[in-house]
Amino acid sequence: MAQRVVISGASRGIGAALAEAIATPGVALLLLARHGENLRQVAERCVEKGAEVYWKALDARHREAVAEAVEGFASRGGVQLLIANAGVVALEDRPSDLGPDWEQLREQIDHNLTCTLSLLQAGLSLPVEQRPHLHCVVVSSLNAFLPLGEAPGYCVAKAAQHTLVEALEDFYACRPEPGAEVVFSQVFPGFVATAMATDYPGPRPLQCTAEQAAQRILRGLRAERKLIMFPRRLALLLWIGQRLPKPILRWILAPSRAYRGFWP
Ligand SMILES: NC(=O)c1ccc[n+]([C@@H]2O[C@H](COP(=O)([O-])OP(=O)(O)OC[C@H]3O[C@@H](n4cnc5c(N)ncnc54)[C@H](OP(=O)(O)O)[C@@H]3O)[C@@H](O)[C@H]2O)c1
Repeated sequence: MAQRVVISGASRGIGAALAEAIATPGVALLLLARHGENLRQVAERCVEKGAEVYWKALDARHREAVAEAVEGFASRGGVQLLIANAGVVALEDRPSDLGPDWEQLREQIDHNLTCTLSLLQAGLSLPVEQRPHLHCVVVSSLNAFLPLGEAPGYCVAKAAQHTLVEALEDFYACRPEPGAEVVFSQVFPGFVATAMATDYPGPRPLQCTAEQAAQRILRGLRAERKLIMFPRRLALLLWIGQRLPKPILRWILAPSRAYRGFWP
């Protein structure tokens, strides 16, 4: 496993669980999120496990701030693993006669996608000597493949993260950099019992804990998997669902919508 790791969205949920699972003697971590007090607590737990930990409270949409933090960390020994995990979700809950909440939609796209872009840009802009083998991991969602009316901006952003990684992968495959290797992995979780999921008012089938999610992600990374999807049963159902006519898919989804009755 990589020894020098940057994680965005590390103040709680999946990011915090990943940080704690990775933290061992010999590992150096840079943890990023907006809330400093939460980050400090996660950092303390990682230090107790023997890791060397740096943290910075920042809005990961701000690319200069992210670049500065990543550059500072990399100058102490480089970066091997970059986990773009920061994200937010907001649900449509307005009366249907008002139409989609366009502001919220734009904000969701901006938030989820820009955080990812800032971290990837910061890591991939480092001098190659500081990242000779860089593994970039982007935490997307199974919603990348199931665009839902409840959260259009979130679903668009998660699909865009997926396309972004595929395009960057193609870029570095076609234009390899001398002395540097860049590898990408994408993570597509189903429901994970974090603050994000518990705000979701609908049923959350096959939900796992943040710690279980972190273990699944790390198992996938150790096995050098490019696509890490879980739970597999939900991913399989989704694969089948994508092939159904939309009205039938909507009929199947009706009982599990965020607000029952709101999405007839
Ligand atoms: N939970 C699920 O069911 C689920 C399912 C599929 C995919 N995911 C994805 O998994 C990732 C982690 O989500 P989670 O479930 O762990 O949610 P969470 O508990 O709400 O954690 C989100 C993390 O992102 C950070 N964050 C959000 N906006 C940020 C910003 N602008 N700048 C810096 N940090 C920011 C938050 O920290 P601060 O608030 O301190 O900034 C927090 O550490 C997200 O990308 C999410 O889309 C989650």
